[in-house]
Amino acid sequence: MKRNEFINLCQNYSPYQGNKGHSSLTHKILAEVSSYHDSQTEKLPVIWLETNCSCDNNISIMNTTYPYLDRFLEETIDLLYSNTFMAAQGQDAVNNLKAAANKKAGQFTLVVEGAIPLQEEYNVVFITSQGEVSALEAVKWLGGLAKYVVALGTCASFGGPSAARPNLSQSVAVSEVLDREVINVSGCPVNADWFVGTLAHLLMYGRPELDNRNRPTLFYGYTIHRHCQRRSYFDNGNFAENLGEIECMFSQGCVGPKTRADCPYRKWINVNWPVEANTPCIGCTNPDFPDGSTPFFTPLSENSNE
Ligand code: SF4
Ligand code: F3S
Repeated sequence: MKRNEFINLCQNYSPYQGNKGHSSLTHKILAEVSSYHDSQTEKLPVIWLETNCSCDNNISIMNTTYPYLDRFLEETIDLLYSNTFMAAQGQDAVNNLKAAANKKAGQFTLVVEGAIPLQEEYNVVFITSQGEVSALEAVKWLGGLAKYVVALGTCASFGGPSAARPNLSQSVAVSEVLDREVINVSGCPVNADWFVGTLAHLLMYGRPELDNRNRPTLFYGYTIHRHCQRRSYFDNGNFAENLGEIECMFSQGCVGPKTRADCPYRKWINVNWPVEANTPCIGCTNPDFPDGSTPFFTPLSENSNE
């Protein structure tokens, strides 16, 4: 598949099309990765570091179905280190990390899941024979060796809930501690399709096109509002009076008009998305989430700073 065809697939494919429940975008992407491997054997080497976050992103990715996670891990990436998924523990895990980082320097993709607390005592990511290593130290070290750096989730991309008021840990985005480009794949949590699609693009075509907040336009090119199935209610001024009703959720605090993501047709695990579940979009992919969306359930004109 040519690059522009892959972009078209990511930007337009929806599980509403095809066989119901068995046709996620990840399913389509992995088919393309399989074709790619007919001529190329290498997978994308990945070091996946979890810092200050709630593990929600890897849980979201583990929840992917049709295909399940194992196909992504086996066919697309060569997972060299992961706090969550690797079997090795303690010093063995650290030894693996050091060996992999040195052997694959300049080739691996660093995935950082979580914000970076500047109050270092808040986040020790591992302990070596020389002492504790903080998230800040680890990300600076590995970020200096990586070919690409991907911030996974809104905490890594923009600070997110980890940096929400009063931010006692002084958490910041990955891009604020590295003097290099960081690809932000935001979401709280991230949608598995956004992550798999971004890594597949890195593997097959290199750096994807990014928006002005360094997010791949593959998935963040348009607002929720643009493709929302309730847009006709909005345009006709029909607003829900309560949560759970079928009209436009703007009156209930929906921030879809200022939120860039493809949830209305990407959906979650091919099943549903917030507005379809009769609750507003709270803007989880936004650079100002969650402080810029609160108080939740308050109409945008009253809480928007845009
Ligand atoms: Fe826009 Fe939200 Fe209303 Fe959908 S529910 S039309 S995203 S304001
Ligand atoms: Fe997040 Fe809004 Fe989608 S809250 S999951 S960007 S609908």
